[in-house]
Amino acid sequence: MANRLEHTNEMRKEFISNISHDIQSPLSNIKGYTNLLESDSLSQEEKNNYISIINGEISRLSTLTKQLLLLASLDRDEELMKKKTVNISEQLKELIRNHQWQMDEKNISIGFKLPDVMITADPALLHTVWENLLTNAIKYNKPDGSIELSIEEKSESVCVSFIDTGIGIHSDDQAKIFDRFYRVDSARTRLIEGTGLGLSIVLAIVQLHGGTIHVNSNENEGTTIDVELPKS
Ligand SMILES: Nc1ncnc2c1ncn2[C@@H]1O[C@H](COP(=O)(O)OP(=O)(O)OP(=O)(O)O)[C@@H](O)[C@H]1O
Ligand SMILES: [Mg+2]
Repeated sequence: MANRLEHTNEMRKEFISNISHDIQSPLSNIKGYTNLLESDSLSQEEKNNYISIINGEISRLSTLTKQLLLLASLDRDEELMKKKTVNISEQLKELIRNHQWQMDEKNISIGFKLPDVMITADPALLHTVWENLLTNAIKYNKPDGSIELSIEEKSESVCVSFIDTGIGIHSDDQAKIFDRFYRVDSARTRLIEGTGLGLSIVLAIVQLHGGTIHVNSNENEGTTIDVELPKS
């Protein structure tokens, strides 16, 4: 019992120190660049550059706040869920359309097999799951890579798979990627923006719906994420 309490306290301390770091670092950048903007000797180009950095840091803070609020609300309980009949195929097709430009930027091709399947779920929360998984499949993909999305209907459940040809995840990291703030520390991932909260939110939502999530990945080859959700 004492051990579990200590463990929870350790996790809480680590969580708070991660949040503080993720808030402090954009704030000090904003402060630094705002101070620089006060100088009279700046060219218009320098000013524009600083303003765009400040804007980027404000967006990071705004994303972080939204993710933390969502995590806090998911921590409470499942009564917050607003369940409805959802056509997951429609949701995924709309998501692909909305992210097409990001895939075009990296010349990533997308293939999908998405038969109409209806399930009972919270549509907004489910959308968050798909959005995080697709964004990861794009961000951690290689240029000219590909993504496959598929839905497999079973008798009581449905399995949605995201398959990418990206940088993959080392077996030691696979269990940790669902932890809050965990990001794989490698030269390549350090260049990619992210808070490390996406998959912890995905896991919380999938579990609230009584589902499961599995990772299958080989470094440098790609990653498959399977989400299995009960139909009702
Ligand atoms: N499809 C993938 N391919 C390779 N690595 C991945 C993939 N998805 C996740 N990861 C690894 O798992 C880590 C955690 O993912 P998660 O989505 O939680 O955070 P993030 O993408 O870093 O940030 P956020 O989603 O909050 O913007 C990532 O930093 C990355 O190292
Ligand atoms: Mg992510």
